[in-house]
Order: sequence, then C-alpha cells, then structure tokens
Amino acid sequence: FIVKGTGFSSIDSKNVKAFENCLFCISEEGTVGAIISPEEKEYQALIKEYSEKNKFQELTHGQFILPGFIDLHIHAPQWAQAGTALDLPLYDWLNTYTFPLEAKFSDRHFAETVYSDLVSQLIKNGTTTALYFATVHRQSSLRLAEICSEKGQRGLVGKVVMDDPEQNPEYYRDATANEALAETELFIQEVLELNKRTPQGVYPVVTPRFIPSCTDDSLKGLGALAAKYDVHIQSHCSESDWAHSFVQERFGKNDAFALNDFGLLTEKAIMAHCGFLSDDDMALFADKGTAVAHCPISNAYFGNAVTPIAKLLNNYKIETGLGSDISGGFSPSLFDNIRQAVISSRMLEDGVDKECCSEKRGVAGSSISLNEAFYLATAGGGESLSLPIGKLAVDYAWDVQIVDSKTLPIFSEEEPLLSIFQKILYLSRPEHIHEVWIQGKKVHDRNRMEVEVQA
Ligand code: GUN
Ligand code: FE
Repeated sequence: FIVKGTGFSSIDSKNVKAFENCLFCISEEGTVGAIISPEEKEYQALIKEYSEKNKFQELTHGQFILPGFIDLHIHAPQWAQAGTALDLPLYDWLNTYTFPLEAKFSDRHFAETVYSDLVSQLIKNGTTTALYFATVHRQSSLRLAEICSEKGQRGLVGKVVMDDPEQNPEYYRDATANEALAETELFIQEVLELNKRTPQGVYPVVTPRFIPSCTDDSLKGLGALAAKYDVHIQSHCSESDWAHSFVQERFGKNDAFALNDFGLLTEKAIMAHCGFLSDDDMALFADKGTAVAHCPISNAYFGNAVTPIAKLLNNYKIETGLGSDISGGFSPSLFDNIRQAVISSRMLEDGVDKECCSEKRGVAGSSISLNEAFYLATAGGGESLSLPIGKLAVDYAWDVQIVDSKTLPIFSEEEPLLSIFQKILYLSRPEHIHEVWIQGKKVHDRNRMEVEVQA
C-alpha cells in the first residue's frame, strides 16, 4: 500500500529531513520499499493505481509522520509503581519498593494485567519498539514477550538475573547461579521459537540486573550464553555513586571493564545510564560497539547526575538511544524523555558570560539539540539494537506514528516545516497520536478507540 504525507526523520545525529508530500510505498513485509517525492515522474500514476486498488491513504491537513519511538530501557513490572517513591536513593528504592513489587510477578495473572496495560500504553504513546527488563520469573517474562507479539509491538525481553544471596532478598532472587543460567537458556530458546511466528520480531535478551546483584559465576555464564545464541545483552552500568563504588570495591575497576571481563560488552549490548563513565570506559564502549541507553528523567533522580551525552555522541561516536527507565523515570512517553534530554544537557553546559561569571560552571559543548534528542529516540535506538528501525528510509520497517498537529499552536499557513516539527516534539500529548503502525500493520487508531469508548 501507499501512504501520502509529510514525514520527519533523522538522517544523522544532528540533521532532520522533512519528506514533504511524499509517497511512502510499503511492501508486503511491512518495510519501506520506496519513497517517491512529488517531482518524480511516477508520482501521479502511483496515486491513481493504488487508489483504484483501494491501497492508498492520504494524510489529512495537519497530520505528520514520525518514526515510532524506540524505548531502549524500561522495566515492565515497574509500570505498577510508576511515579512512586522517587524521592528515595536507588538502594532504598530497590529494597523497599521495587523488589517486593517484582516478586509479585511470580503470579502470572498479575503479570498479565500489568504487562497488557503497559504494552498498550506504550503503543498509544508512540513507542513501537521496547527493550524490556521483566523479572526473575521465566514464565511471566515469556508472557511479556507473548503480549508484545500479540499486540504487534517489537519487543526485546530479558528474564532478569539476580542470584547473589548476599545482595538480594531471599524472597526475590534466582536460587543459584546454575539455575539462573538454565532458566535464561530455556527463556532464550522459548523466545526464539515465538519470534518465528511474530512478523515484527520479539527477541530474547541476556539480562544481568547489574553487577551488584550477580555472582561471578552467573556473570560469566551469561556472557557465554549471549555468545552461544548471538543475542542482545542489557544491564545497568555506572548508574549511581553507590553502584559505581560497589563495583570499584569488588573488582578494583569500573563497571565497563568488569562487564567486559565477563564477555558482556558486545556489539549487541545496551547499557543503561552510564552517568559515571571515565574516558577509558567510553573508549572501551566505542571499541566494543556497545550502546548506551540514556535515561534522562531517571538519572535526575537516581544518578543525581547528567550523563554527558554530547561527549558520548560527538567525541566517542558511541551508539546511543533513549530510555524511559520506568519506573526510575515516571513517564512512559519518549516525548517527555526527549524534552528532558535537552533540558538536562543544557544544565551541564558551560556558563556563557565569561565577563561576569568567574566561577567554573559546567562543560562547554555539553548541550544537545532537539534534533539530537529526537535522533536518540529513533535512529539512535535502531542503530544501538542493530535493527533496521527508527528512520523513514528504504528497507526500514514501517514503524511510524501519525501525529495530528491541528490543536497545537500553529497559526500561520507559512509556518516552516521544521518549526512545526519542533512544536510537535515539545507539545504533543498522547491524544495527538492519531495512528501507530508497526511493521506495516496498524496497531493503534485513536478514532476507532473513541468510537469504542462511546459505544
Ligand atoms: N539498578 C538495579 N536495578 C535497577 C532498577 O530496577 N532501576 C534502576 N533505575 N536502576 C537499577
Ligand atoms: Fe533501569
């Protein structure tokens, strides 16, 4: 089929291109086969041909196409406590709230309720791909992968490993390293099977929670499993002062080098937060092709820090995407996280007026642009996952959100497209998201929902 409309896509980390009134030609497989602009000679003929076949959709005035967002770090069970107890430090928040909540996911009915609601909410918020932490429980983690598969979302799901009896509560951990590894291997096999019946893809992810929660045996075994099955890896890396110094005391090195020793920094690895990477750590990430999931809302709470994202992107060329970190971050929306990524980075920026302010504030070149934050939420996430998603481009999946700008403050017909783009990113709410498509399939239609609610 063909969709005619105007869309926005990153072409690199700094530049966004507006595809004005283009024809997006979508293949049977749900990928973009061609993008035809109005100057091209087949433009009119294609419209005629596909209209006659009833396979032509034209966006209405004020609607725009954005790539679907890629949430590169989210804890699915924590949706049940989003917005809770964010005034605590990480260690207390984990032990008082988070571990007791996650323990409840041994109950598959509870898991079903929370996971179904979360996946639907994410889709309505324009998130077409998510890299999830589930819990230690294999079966309810598999249920999350199945729900993604059923609802049409592209999901990468990890059964969490936390096996150290010294560090994890008795009521919520893997019994032994061996059991954690056996369950992880079975989980990988089950999700790889499920993936065969899932057009948009669901993928298993090797998921040591973070170094403090795992024994050397489980970390080593997980590195080996990731290599054996060639699957993604995710964990938390250098997130807080507490976690960072814990790893220093245990191994005499930073998280990055410790993870690397266990085979956990690979081309397919994505590490969340990374607020306290040294220059050597960054060089190691770049060398290994490991990606960073930047979680700006969460970092403001648990990191008490701003990850130097401009440095990762520009100085080290590290693959970087954006994560909501539900519920270390309170918002399921990557629009909110795009806004916070820009805001936080500006607070790291140098004082500008050298004449009047003598004290040293921030670091020059730290702020990122809105285009860069948009890149993190889209193309940067796709590159981090090594999947053809996050761009309006040939051979990329047709994973898009159609946003309606009619109720945004646009008062002139002459408003430049790139200024409309900025208003969409700063001002859109979930109700502006008109339709969401994943792998060429419509998975959300706001109008139809309104009709259903009225009925
Ligand atoms: N470190 C270990 N577990 C977690 C978690 O659930 N959330 C965050 N933000 N950091 C963690
Ligand atoms: Fe997290």
